[in-house]
Amino acid sequence: MDALAEAAIAVRNNAYAPFSHFKVGAALQDAAGRTYTGCNVENATFGLTICAERVAVFRAISDGARHFPRIAIAADTDTLTPPCGACRQILWEFCGDIEIILVNLRGQRETFQLKDLFPRPYDASFL
Ligand code: THU
Repeated sequence: MDALAEAAIAVRNNAYAPFSHFKVGAALQDAAGRTYTGCNVENATFGLTICAERVAVFRAISDGARHFPRIAIAADTDTLTPPCGACRQILWEFCGDIEIILVNLRGQRETFQLKDLFPRPYDASFL
């Protein structure tokens, strides 16, 4: 298991998920090799919950990072957990056709390109 996947698995332990009990971790790598992690952070209103992937992206952006070749996403599921629709939109905005590495706690791993999970995206080219 590579270091990015390990980072996603490790940060998953910090998830604040008292409502769903579904913990997710994400680790986003920038072009300089730095890693920005995120976990899901839920809220009693439910709707204000933010996914692990978006926490990682927003941490990276606010730190000044801009180019991202890879993200690892970790959850404790047999069928590897893919990013939700909202996160696919945010990943496309800030990362373009990023490599997405899905992992679970049993060492399973699968890799995708975002363009295959998110075909015909809406983005700034339409504005
Ligand atoms: N969740 C993520 O953090 N990332 C995903 O890719 C899927 C869903 C979170 C949101 C919520 O806190 C919990 O998982 C259940 O949907």
